[in-house]
Amino acid sequence: SLLLFLVVFILTLDYIKNRRPVSFPPGPWALPIVGNIFTVDHSRTHESMTQLSERYGDVYSLRMGQKWMVVLNRFEVLKEALVTQGDGFADRPDLPLVDDVAHGQGVAFSNGNVWKQHRRFALSTLKYFGFGKKSLEPVILGEFAHCAKYICNNKGRPFNPHLIVNNAVSNIICSLVFGHRFDYGDEKFMKLMKWFDKALRIQGSLWAQLYNSFPLMMRCLPGPHQTFLQILKDLKDFTREELKKHKQNWDPSDLRDYIDCYLNEIQTNEGKADSSFDEENLIMSVLDLFAAGSETTATTLRWAFLYMAKYPEIQAKVQAEIDCVIGQSKQPSTEDRPSLPYTDAVIHEVQRISNIVPLSLPHVTTRDIQLGGYTIPKGVTIIPNLTSVLFDKNEWETPYTFNPGHFLNEEGKFVKRAAFIPFSAGKRVCLGENLARMELFLFFTSFNAALHLLHACRGEACNRISFWHYTGTAAI
Ligand code: HEM
Repeated sequence: SLLLFLVVFILTLDYIKNRRPVSFPPGPWALPIVGNIFTVDHSRTHESMTQLSERYGDVYSLRMGQKWMVVLNRFEVLKEALVTQGDGFADRPDLPLVDDVAHGQGVAFSNGNVWKQHRRFALSTLKYFGFGKKSLEPVILGEFAHCAKYICNNKGRPFNPHLIVNNAVSNIICSLVFGHRFDYGDEKFMKLMKWFDKALRIQGSLWAQLYNSFPLMMRCLPGPHQTFLQILKDLKDFTREELKKHKQNWDPSDLRDYIDCYLNEIQTNEGKADSSFDEENLIMSVLDLFAAGSETTATTLRWAFLYMAKYPEIQAKVQAEIDCVIGQSKQPSTEDRPSLPYTDAVIHEVQRISNIVPLSLPHVTTRDIQLGGYTIPKGVTIIPNLTSVLFDKNEWETPYTFNPGHFLNEEGKFVKRAAFIPFSAGKRVCLGENLARMELFLFFTSFNAALHLLHACRGEACNRISFWHYTGTAAI
């Protein structure tokens, strides 16, 4: 009877503590203790969450363990929340797995003053290296040359593009942050790539969800979450080593990369009471740029390969446009983009349909909010469901079909679409958007432009489909 009393006591306590707040968005019935953890299919979370919106509306709630969250669906709702009421949705929630690594530092998972200062600094530094005097354009084109060499060395044999694309894109972040690239065979670099790959997998797993819902218990248990914490510690140590080297020959009159610029920022803000620029924040910012900027861009490029393999007639049109506008005598440049409307539309459509950050990153309400007729109290986790926008049949003519026509008007000119939000929107919109768009454009056009070279390397008759076929099918 003591056991029965205990069970009834725990269930009553759980009911009182976790009751759905008054005027809160509706949602599925939540089990005691675990809430809706098992309502959502974690192998296809974004689809599962989009399906729930058909039943419970564009603004609905779920309880994950002891925490309430609100899922936002469709363009108008996301715009109202992230843009119109942007201040009220600007913060990140406590995510124990991330917090145990980031400790509120860096840019992607910080809040308040630390976030504001680091976001402003990151944006201006990315602008400086992205498009100013120290533009990354030649770095990206140079990196492509290494890819092309690697592909040629395969002498026409099929190969998996996963590694080469990930290496190339990560090397852009290395050049930006550390001021140098790595050879693809470099042991340190290969270890770095493996660590990131593994950490990202664990971060997206049910283990991470359990850790975030029951941190006290999970901290004591073995499992992949412990591997995640160890990897992040190793990555921080790796970055610390690079920082040490930078400090040895740092010259404020010649800022070579992100770390140099950050060291300059530390010095400029020395003695200011509200400055959050220090070495621990620097290390976390560097990891943020790697985590947010490598896998995202590389995955999009791999989807591009896959779609070009699946739709050879579209690839042929892209290549014909590039051949006609750029030709064989020069390398592509971002300045060519306005003259390549079809290619631009294909890249946008790849981003829309591949939907690689389907639930964006979580936000949290910074005050009590009125949205869609409901009240969301301060401190509730918000999930912006980008899938519900990128696949909305009211926004796209053929949402589930690869159709570059979504971004072209009747005269074949490129048209922007408001519902194209793979980078999210508002105060926390992806801060690497411009760099990512530049990388996607330059890598994608370079691959297409170089097809002649690649086929020549293979020593075979020009068969433009086969390259995409090899790489595209391997990309699956
Ligand atoms: C945040 C998408 C590439 C750096 C985000 C978010 C999305 C996103 C959806 C969350 C926004 C939100 O919370 O509302 C993408 C996609 C990319 C890409 C689709 C490539 C195709 C990059 C690159 C970088 C980068 C290349 C940096 C070099 C960041 C950072 C944040 C972020 C630092 C956190 C911003 C903040 O919290 O203020 N990205 N991203 N991303 N992204 Fe990207």
